[in-house]
Amino acid sequence: MTMATAGGKGAFVREMFGRIAPRYDLANRLLTAGLDEVWRKKAIAILAPPRGGTILDLCCGTGDLVFHLLRVDPTLNVTGADFCEPMLARARERASSRVRASFVEADVMELPFADSAFDGATMGFSLRNVVDVDAVLRETLRVLRPGARFVNLDVSKAPNRLWKRCFDAYFYGVVPLIGGLVGGSREAYTYLPNSLTHHPNARELKERFARAGFDAPGYLPLVGGSIAIHYGTKP
Ligand SMILES: C[S@@+](CC[C@H](N)C(=O)[O-])C[C@H]1O[C@@H](n2cnc3c(N)ncnc32)[C@H](O)[C@@H]1O
Repeated sequence: MTMATAGGKGAFVREMFGRIAPRYDLANRLLTAGLDEVWRKKAIAILAPPRGGTILDLCCGTGDLVFHLLRVDPTLNVTGADFCEPMLARARERASSRVRASFVEADVMELPFADSAFDGATMGFSLRNVVDVDAVLRETLRVLRPGARFVNLDVSKAPNRLWKRCFDAYFYGVVPLIGGLVGGSREAYTYLPNSLTHHPNARELKERFARAGFDAPGYLPLVGGSIAIHYGTKP
């Protein structure tokens, strides 16, 4: 039994995403003014998935990154993993029968996949929600084949104080308001920004990638560092 199934933060997060699943996509587009689509494309460009490769999208939610990957390269086989069944149900609804996507209910701290099973892995807006970041990094490394990349897109802490203040005013002030109205749960959209507070900053997260065993870890800051794409390669 993992921490997610045992209760605590994991169970809270799973229940919360279950509540906002029906309107999650609409809230996302509004809250980022559609920019998340641009950031997702950048993350996929950094992943540079091999044609026909098998890709794992961790914490896939309603499948945004899975479908983006398949639009960029329809020859890929993409597996989305998430522990929230209502989010997975939305993802399955969105998947047409032609799409080479499958969705698996799983806790990303304990992945039900063989060692070296994937040619790449992605994660979008989720790492700060998991109970144990290092466990996720270790598990991801385990299921990647040598030479494969992991790319993680998420909100981050801008290094410039003034810009961070502006972004925080939006993130901690406006997001709960709009998220509450559109997404249907003000509590959930208050929790989501707060999950950043105890998350490592971009430089520290890069070090965590290195400590987990990723080669050539790095990150691309976007929007003045309020968004970051971290990456690393399995040696
Ligand atoms: C903010 S959503 C992001 C969804 C999607 N990746 C995207 O880019 O829109 C976070 C997702 O992480 C999932 N999640 C959080 N902790 C998890 C865990 N330990 N195992 C599996 N999924 C988890 C939640 O269920 C939720 O669907």
